[in-house]
Amino acid sequence: MSNTTPERITDQAPASAIGFSTLKQEVVVDELELSGELPSWLTGSLLRTGPAKFEVGDRRMRHWFDGLAMLHRFTIDKGLVSYGNRFLESRSYKAAREQGRIVYDEFATDPCRSLFKRVHTLFSGGGLLPDNANVNVGRLGERFIAMTESPLPVQFDRHTLQAAGVRPYKVPGLLTTAHPHMDRASGAMLNYAANLGPRSSYRFFAVGPHESKPRVIATLPVREPAYMHSFGLTERYLVLAEFPYVVNPLALALSGRPYIENYRWKPELGTRFTLVDRATGKATAGFQADACFAFHHVNAYEVDDEVVVDLCVYPDASIIEDLYLDRLRAGKPVTEATLTRFRLGLADRSVRREQLADGGIDLPRINYGRCNERPYRYVWGNGIRPKGWIDSIRKIDTTDGAALSWSQPGCYPGEPVFVARPEAEYEDDGVLLSVVLDAEAGTSFLLVLDAADVSELARAQAPHHIPFGFHGQFAAG
Ligand code: CO
Repeated sequence: MSNTTPERITDQAPASAIGFSTLKQEVVVDELELSGELPSWLTGSLLRTGPAKFEVGDRRMRHWFDGLAMLHRFTIDKGLVSYGNRFLESRSYKAAREQGRIVYDEFATDPCRSLFKRVHTLFSGGGLLPDNANVNVGRLGERFIAMTESPLPVQFDRHTLQAAGVRPYKVPGLLTTAHPHMDRASGAMLNYAANLGPRSSYRFFAVGPHESKPRVIATLPVREPAYMHSFGLTERYLVLAEFPYVVNPLALALSGRPYIENYRWKPELGTRFTLVDRATGKATAGFQADACFAFHHVNAYEVDDEVVVDLCVYPDASIIEDLYLDRLRAGKPVTEATLTRFRLGLADRSVRREQLADGGIDLPRINYGRCNERPYRYVWGNGIRPKGWIDSIRKIDTTDGAALSWSQPGCYPGEPVFVARPEAEYEDDGVLLSVVLDAEAGTSFLLVLDAADVSELARAQAPHHIPFGFHGQFAAG
């Protein structure tokens, strides 16, 4: 397996740079080398997606979000861990493999093609849209899906990771998020879409666990849509936070620039919150805050006459520029997000803002099953070293800002996925699962932490490095 050693980009590159290098191998390993002890109740698979191929033919992807998607599966059963990984057989991937070039648009990397084709892509109903679903995985009834921000989710088999060759549902718009919510009562997936064109709009939609046709809950007209990576959910409302990083839909079609480079930072617009009633679709707008930017909602809930909205907040949208691959590979520092609470006053449309904890955190997770839409206490996420890259897992107590963290020199952990213990008594009664890059060894491992005190319980060695990914989910059983 000598060819599994990742290529060193340059001699000056920081150790973390191998997390942005291509992984070619697709393997199945029945039993990973395990140290420590797994809880006996922990049975199921951590399913993750992320970019794993950063060059096609003689072209290189430009941005972390561009890499071609690979799925990874860590399956825990009877105290043992098996592993498999496979490139997601999206049409973006298959076209790149068959033609040896980038065929579909990515977030910040375009195929070279004519203006006519660009306009056609945007306004023709999707014939040329990409489906490189490298952001998150989700579950809709018994269907497992990989998602990105294009409207073409990819269904896959949870055991073999093979693409199913069918679209699980159709997004009512040209853009969506890879962070849907789940409706507790029906098991439906709730998500956002942006419909772009001469008359653009934001939409919220629902897809039932056994359905493939979406039901549009609300349509909100907008002239210049904001970049939207996630949204919030309370028991009554869908929560839209519009940061002033916006796009003119016509420019998107005509500029000739890659997708994200058409967005403009307009701080004079401030940050605008809109609440959409889940039952009626009625929108309540007019909550205005200072300009800021976020990828991730953490949680939201109603208390008395306020709606509380927690986000991992950046001062502006320059974090997107921080994540270009040449910068990341050179070890340029990445801006930190802080855990920030916005209290929206329903009576007077006021917005009060408060920082909940010191230090950076992003890729946030909560005890979703117990606490989403409801008052909660704990957030887990990744911490960023002040002058560098993600190097810790943090647990923050939202009531007093107290923080715990796990780190190990030379190791770079990914998003910590919380898994509740069956019959858990407390909010933090469970484990965290995180894929960690050991830069010195040039390999990655699955780390299992006690979610309460973030102490290590076990780790299982993967046979290769796993490029830094974004999100995943635990599928029990
Ligand atoms: Co995300």
